[in-house]
Amino acid sequence: MSKKRILISGLLLCMLLPIAQADEGMWLPYLLQLNESDMQQKGMKISAKDIYDVNHGSLKDAVVLFGGGCTGEIVSDQGLLLTNHHCGYGYIQSHSSLQHDYLTNGFWARNKNEELPNNGLSVTLLVEMKDVTAEVLNGIRNNMTENERKTIVTQNIKTIQQKATEGTHYKAVVKPIYNGNQYLLFINEVFTDIRLVGAPPSNIGKFGGDTDNWMWPRHTGDFSVFRIYCGKDGKPAPYNKDNVPYKPKKHLTISLKDTKTNDFTFVFGYPGMTQQFLTSFAVELIQNQTNPIAIDLRTQRLDIIKKYMEKDKLTRIQYSAKAAGIANGWKKWIGQNNGLQRLDVIKHKQELEQRFNQWVAENSDRQQQYGGMVEAYKAFYDQLRPIAKEVSYFMEAFYSIESIKFAWQMHGILQADSLNSQQKQQYTLRINNFFKDYNSNLDKEIFDALATAYFANAQDIPNATLDKVHKIGLTKLSNEIYSKSILLNKDKMLEIVAKDDKKALNKLKKDILFTFTIPIVEHYNTNIAPKYSNLSKQTDSLDRLWTKAMMEMQPEKTFYPDANLTLRVAYGNIKGYQPKDGMIYKHYTTIEGIMQKENPDIYDYVVEPKLKDLYKHKDYGRYANKYGELPVCFIATNHTTGGNSGSPVLNAKGELIGLNFDRCWEGTMSDIQYDVDLCRNIILDIRYCLFIIDKYANAKYLVDEMTIVQ
Ligand code: ARG
Ligand code: GLU
Repeated sequence: MSKKRILISGLLLCMLLPIAQADEGMWLPYLLQLNESDMQQKGMKISAKDIYDVNHGSLKDAVVLFGGGCTGEIVSDQGLLLTNHHCGYGYIQSHSSLQHDYLTNGFWARNKNEELPNNGLSVTLLVEMKDVTAEVLNGIRNNMTENERKTIVTQNIKTIQQKATEGTHYKAVVKPIYNGNQYLLFINEVFTDIRLVGAPPSNIGKFGGDTDNWMWPRHTGDFSVFRIYCGKDGKPAPYNKDNVPYKPKKHLTISLKDTKTNDFTFVFGYPGMTQQFLTSFAVELIQNQTNPIAIDLRTQRLDIIKKYMEKDKLTRIQYSAKAAGIANGWKKWIGQNNGLQRLDVIKHKQELEQRFNQWVAENSDRQQQYGGMVEAYKAFYDQLRPIAKEVSYFMEAFYSIESIKFAWQMHGILQADSLNSQQKQQYTLRINNFFKDYNSNLDKEIFDALATAYFANAQDIPNATLDKVHKIGLTKLSNEIYSKSILLNKDKMLEIVAKDDKKALNKLKKDILFTFTIPIVEHYNTNIAPKYSNLSKQTDSLDRLWTKAMMEMQPEKTFYPDANLTLRVAYGNIKGYQPKDGMIYKHYTTIEGIMQKENPDIYDYVVEPKLKDLYKHKDYGRYANKYGELPVCFIATNHTTGGNSGSPVLNAKGELIGLNFDRCWEGTMSDIQYDVDLCRNIILDIRYCLFIIDKYANAKYLVDEMTIVQ
């Protein structure tokens, strides 16, 4: 469709329907009054103040940043917390052993004494957010260099953060929004005694695995249960067995009522990053260079890993978390590139840039402020592109080889002529950690593929290395590394470290894996990485100005600040979609789909006998819908991204109806370009979550803690 047609039909729509707002956007809770009428028109029955209020308990008091990159919600007056299984995964794994394999079998504390503390896990609750732009920019003049500006901004932020928390146990952080045109202060309370309460077995919590990841229809019970503990005074305290469950200002009410298509719904959580203001040049770099390189290299890596995982059970255990991490980004980028192409984003951005140039030309003030920006961006990306390519090949090829990464992690040992007890301990730990999940045949195959790709494509490689590779040949080099390197010999390495064997340490300096790895990584760290980061910083001022101009040029549009891991509200409606011509997706799935996917021979699709039994007897209790089905997942038009995992999904009354855990594949370009027809977030239905806790795990005492409406 031509741009003109879109504009005209858009205009018509505006005139016909009062609700002209898109479902796009992640809104700031403290400014939610601005969205209130739109939200109510879409079906919301509560007020913006019910969602965010600093003077009274509001929904925001029940939403937390879980760890450093997920969201969770408080569902009882005793600090009971829900988040995704994939957010709790690392903690569940850390409590697991061959005797107690909680990852495989699930874990349920039968009472508070059995709840397990988690070292390093914190939960952050927002106390208040406010605009501090004037204070941050105090002392900034227009004719300053970017560096002068940065110095003042950094100092001001430090002062503001200090002042905001003086005499309290709160933590403060100031973050820019709109690419540095505005600054917000967040005052937080950080709890550090967080205990694991329960987790379903992986074949429920990760049902469908990487095969179903980013896809609809979905049947994953992606949740885990934790509890926040605090000191007896109700304030955060480090782990202590005498700590007490946290009593929140507010916990969420859970609704088991039926939901239907078009129902209003909102997601309240911590989205990590979106980039709506990217220029055509930036999208072009992502779509035509960064993503294709990463996708290609990860395809090679995953094919090799999969081959070995299928052959051998131990390898499957060793590599399943690694493979999940590699595949998650890989699959998202494939979806993102498809979406960017489908929406013709580069072309639309180019048209916007042409419009911008005309808009600037209309007025001399604008010419002075914004003249030449598109050209400046073009010149900038011409410079960035080749360096970005070096970074991609280094990160996704060379440094993705496990032995190389290990060699770099161990390279400190080269500086030491002898090891003190702390170093001994540290290196022993690294060696054990590395070999616990390592298969050297697999890694060698990856080396052969990725090192070949690296040397064929990277340009900026130290000459001595190139000479060596030319002389010896990569194949021979690889054979020698994997047959001769002492670094790859676990027992030998442990012995050298334990005995502080000086002769062997000295010999290690000439180890072929070290001599091959170190010069390349050092060259990257001293030349390529700084060049890339200095260059990237150069766009800070350009991006700030561009964002300001874009907002000024399109006064009819309501802009949301891009996600930056701060608390946001995204709202929309429950809705299916049409992924492709001739296909229609329903808005929800049921346990029928789990049984249809069941395959005892495929790891991702194994169904536990207990679940099958409950299914056979249709023993769904009060968790069935009005058709007698057990709902599992549903989708909506909420604009979400990474970090929204575990976010509460709420209904028109602000009651919890599900946990956000993914997006549909066709819509993963929404970090750059949202589209209401294609973008859907994927939500675990709270009824399936409670069914598993109650009926499957027999942990009804947890459900009894919750506030449930039916
Ligand atoms: N795609 C989701 C996210 O980005 C879920 C990832 C975890 N699940 C998996 N099968 N790897 O985090
Ligand atoms: N699974 C993602 C997360 O961990 C959420 C999916 C998305 O990127 O939207 O945050």
